[in-house]
Amino acid sequence: MLSTIKASFYIFVLSFLTFTINAQLAGQWPPVDKPPPPNADWTKLVDQTKVPAIAQSKNENDCSAKGDVCNWSCTNCVRTTDIIQCPNKYDWGLSFDDGPTEFTPTLLDYLESQNITLTFFVIGSRVIENPQTLQRAVAAGHQIAVHTWSHTALTTQSNEEIIAEIKWTETAIKQAVGLTPKYMRPPYGNIDDRVRGILTQLGYKVVIWDKDTNDWMSGEPGNTFQLPWIEGNFTEWVKENDPTGHISLEHDLYKQTAAQAPNVVPIVQGAGFTIKPVFQCVGDAQPYLESTTTAPATDPAAAPATDPATDPAAAPATDPATDPAVAPATDPVTPTSNVQYVDGSPSAIPTTSNAISHMINNNYLLLLVLFTLWLFKL
Ligand SMILES: *[C@@H]1O[C@H](CO)[C@@H](O)[C@H](O)[C@H]1NC(C)=O
Ligand SMILES: *[C@@H]1O[C@H](CO)[C@@H](O)[C@H](O)[C@H]1NC(C)=O
Ligand SMILES: *[C@@H]1O[C@H](CO)[C@@H](O)[C@H](O)[C@H]1NC(C)=O
Ligand SMILES: [Zn+2]
Repeated sequence: MLSTIKASFYIFVLSFLTFTINAQLAGQWPPVDKPPPPNADWTKLVDQTKVPAIAQSKNENDCSAKGDVCNWSCTNCVRTTDIIQCPNKYDWGLSFDDGPTEFTPTLLDYLESQNITLTFFVIGSRVIENPQTLQRAVAAGHQIAVHTWSHTALTTQSNEEIIAEIKWTETAIKQAVGLTPKYMRPPYGNIDDRVRGILTQLGYKVVIWDKDTNDWMSGEPGNTFQLPWIEGNFTEWVKENDPTGHISLEHDLYKQTAAQAPNVVPIVQGAGFTIKPVFQCVGDAQPYLESTTTAPATDPAAAPATDPATDPAAAPATDPATDPAVAPATDPVTPTSNVQYVDGSPSAIPTTSNAISHMINNNYLLLLVLFTLWLFKL
C-alpha cells in the first residue's frame, strides 16, 4: 500500500518534470488569443497623420468600405510592397502559419531530414507557450515572421490595437530567440491601406500568398475537407508553368495539416522547384533586424558544399543563449519598459531570464526534491 502511494508520488513528480520542459516563456504576457492591450510607447512609434483614414471593417468578411482602400481579402488588390509570390520561376516559398504548436516538432524533424528551410508565420500567443520549438526552428535556419498575437482580422482593429498585435508578438519572439522579424503576414490576408500604412511604419514587409491549400478547413468541426486535396492542388500548381515562382499557405496548427510536408515537398521538388524561405526568394540577405550567420543553404547550386558540423561559417549560429551577436543587449525598436500589463503589474519584461534558464531552474528544483526523497528513503 505504502509503496503504491510512493510510486504514484514519484510518477506525479516525474510527469511534472516532463511538463516543465515545455515551460512557458518567462515574462508577463497578455491573455492568449485575445487582442492584447495597446501601449502608449508603442503607439508613438507610428505617425498617425501618415496612416490613411479608412474606417475599421465590422468583421473579416466586411467589404463595405468605400473608395480605393486595396483590401486584399475583399478584392485580391495588392500594392507593390506586398509580397504575393516568389519573383523567380522555380523558387517556391513554402510557408506554415499559426504555430508553433505541439505538432511543429514533427514537421521540423522532416524538414531537417530533407535539408529544407522555409517560413513560419507565428502567433505570439503560441510563441509564449512553445518557446523551445521556436528556438529549434531558428537554430535549423527557418525564417520566423510575425502573424499577430491573437489572429484577429487587422482591418477590424483600431490603429492602436494593430500596433499592439504586432509589437506584443515581436516582443515574444525577441524574448524567445533574440531576433526581431522584418516580415509579417496578416491573418486571413485581411489588409487594407490603413493596415499597410501602420505595418510599413513599424518596419514590416507584408507577405501574403498566391497558392492556398485551404488546409485549415480540415480542422473545422463537421468539415468535408479531404486531405488528399492538398497533394492534388500542389500537383496542379507545379504544372502551371507560370513566369514567377510561388508562395504557398499551409498551417502547423493541426496535426493533420502539419503532417502534409512529406506529401507536398516531393511534388514541389520533383517539378524542379527549390524550396526556400520567403526572405531568400525575394533576394533579402536578412529576415531579421539583427544580423545572423548565414542559415544553411537550401539551394545546393547556389552554395558550395559545406559541412555544418565542421564549418562554423555554415552552421546556423543563431542560438541567442550562446551567441551574443544575435541578441544585442539594447533593442532600439522595442520598448521594454512602461508596458501595460492586463493584470496592472508595473514590472517590465525581464531581459535576463529566458525560457531555457527557466526550464533548467524548474527541473533542477524537482531533481533536488527527488534526490532528497531518495536520500531519506521516503
Ligand atoms: C475593398 O476595396 C474595394 C475596392 O476598393 C471596395 O469596393 C470595398 O468596399 C473595400 N472593402 C473594405 C472592407 O475595405
Ligand atoms: C542533407 O545534408 C547533409 C549534409 O550536407 C547530407 O549528408 C544529406 O545527404 C542531405 N540530405 C538530403 C536529403 O539532401
Ligand atoms: C484543390 O483543393 C480544393 C479545395 O481547396 C478542392 O476542391 C479541389 O478538388 C482540389 N484539387 C485537387 C486536384 O485535388
Ligand atoms: Zn493564420
